[in-house]
Amino acid sequence: MIGKKVHIKSFGCQMNKLDTALVTFALKDAGFTFTESASEADVVLINTCSVREHAEQRVISHLGRLQHIKKTRPDMVVGVIGCMAQRLDRKLLKHDAVDIICGPAQIPQITKLITETLKLKKEIVAVTENIRQKTDQRQAQALEDFESAYSAREKKIPGQAYVRVMRGCDNFCSYCIVPFVRGPEISRPPKAIIDQIRKLADTGVKQVTLLGQRVNSYKYKAGDKTYCLADLLRMASDIQGIEWIRFVTSYPSEEFFDEILRAMADLPKVCNYLHIPAQSGSNKILRAMNRHYTTDQYLHLLAKARDIVPAIAIAGDFIVGFPGETHADFEATVDLVKKARYKNCFIFKYSPRPDTKSDKKLADDIPLEVKKNRNTELLAVQEKISGELSAEYLGKEVRVLVEGLSKKPHLDSEKSDGNPQLIGRTATDYIVVFNAPPSLAGQFVKVKITKTSPLTLFGRLI
Ligand code: SAH
Ligand code: SF4
Ligand code: F3S
Repeated sequence: MIGKKVHIKSFGCQMNKLDTALVTFALKDAGFTFTESASEADVVLINTCSVREHAEQRVISHLGRLQHIKKTRPDMVVGVIGCMAQRLDRKLLKHDAVDIICGPAQIPQITKLITETLKLKKEIVAVTENIRQKTDQRQAQALEDFESAYSAREKKIPGQAYVRVMRGCDNFCSYCIVPFVRGPEISRPPKAIIDQIRKLADTGVKQVTLLGQRVNSYKYKAGDKTYCLADLLRMASDIQGIEWIRFVTSYPSEEFFDEILRAMADLPKVCNYLHIPAQSGSNKILRAMNRHYTTDQYLHLLAKARDIVPAIAIAGDFIVGFPGETHADFEATVDLVKKARYKNCFIFKYSPRPDTKSDKKLADDIPLEVKKNRNTELLAVQEKISGELSAEYLGKEVRVLVEGLSKKPHLDSEKSDGNPQLIGRTATDYIVVFNAPPSLAGQFVKVKITKTSPLTLFGRLI
């Protein structure tokens, strides 16, 4: 397929972005070239997310635009890959623009699927039939091979890479679609993960982010030994060239919690950052969400984290407007946010997902207006806390891994000295904006913080 141009767009989480990177490099190896513009592409791929209705709507409207382009370029091939492909399966074919449907477990076949569609001009569907059935060995091996073949090239942000340590999820939070689109939870072999990180380090990667839906429950039995996330952190720390190691997302559970925190405290390369969503501050709602902890247990975990790693920055997620969430339940969430003192929080309005337990059993009874108001109120509470915590950085020198040019201009950064604004992050995941030469992307630098806002630190390169 020499010379055929591909345009690819990702709508989902880090897992999804990692898949996009793997697919990109597999196609490059097969001779495809890439374009930033959908309207000049021969093949357009959309990597999709099903976690909220809004995520799916964005994809549907993107498909509408592609349908429009297809009117003048009828030979253009459009492929929907990822979670929405798995969820909607053949039903996606009713959108005239769609030619290929490829689930997350079928991405190793992507080159074949595209080549066939270009040749035969017919629609192809490749998804897992019974997604909750035990993953078949051949499919698992194909995913492993695909991952190790293409991951060493995944460097969307210079010097950084995602490394999947687990696939799927078995937690079945009652609102969540992920177990139904990503399949059963599987921990990848430690050797495969560590070999992959070593390969990444050889290509200049300095920071790896280990990915799993419940990354802290990573568990792999090999002979007499059971490996947990703390073991991975230790092994990854020994790899030369790797300087920072992160992991997301953690589930509030005692299992392995101490070991992981101790690894964070002991190993200088492990970033002092924990993303540990609570989802609600009401025990009644947590039960209905099938989250297996109470707010007291959750706060106890945070206290322990701060005890073992005093410099830790903690982030969270919340869902507002879950079915049956009363004003008192919401107040309990506000209360938890005040007590937790997160660095930042992601707040989502409940979105019923077809086939999940909460959708089947509970009416989506909180009006959109109320969801919106609760979202805004909770954000305001968090913003105040974020502002207080970020202000502690004022006047301090921080080590920053530079990501590249800042996409939006920040008016309040320092004088430019002719250099553009760059952004980077601290080990504690604070975004730092400063003026410096773009060639520093992918490098570690020191920045003196001269100004702070709730979510961003501003400073001067030292
Ligand atoms: N595995 C991770 C992330 C899952 S999806 C975890 O368990 O934390 C990311 C976030 O989306 C979740 O933390 C949750 O806050 C939100 N989310 C998931 N399903 C949702 C739904 N149906 N409606 C609204 N938000 C949802
Ligand atoms: Fe979804 Fe819960 Fe699994 Fe996270 S842990 S992916 S919220 S089911
Ligand atoms: Fe990620 Fe969305 Fe799928 S959050 S795992 S892309 S449903």
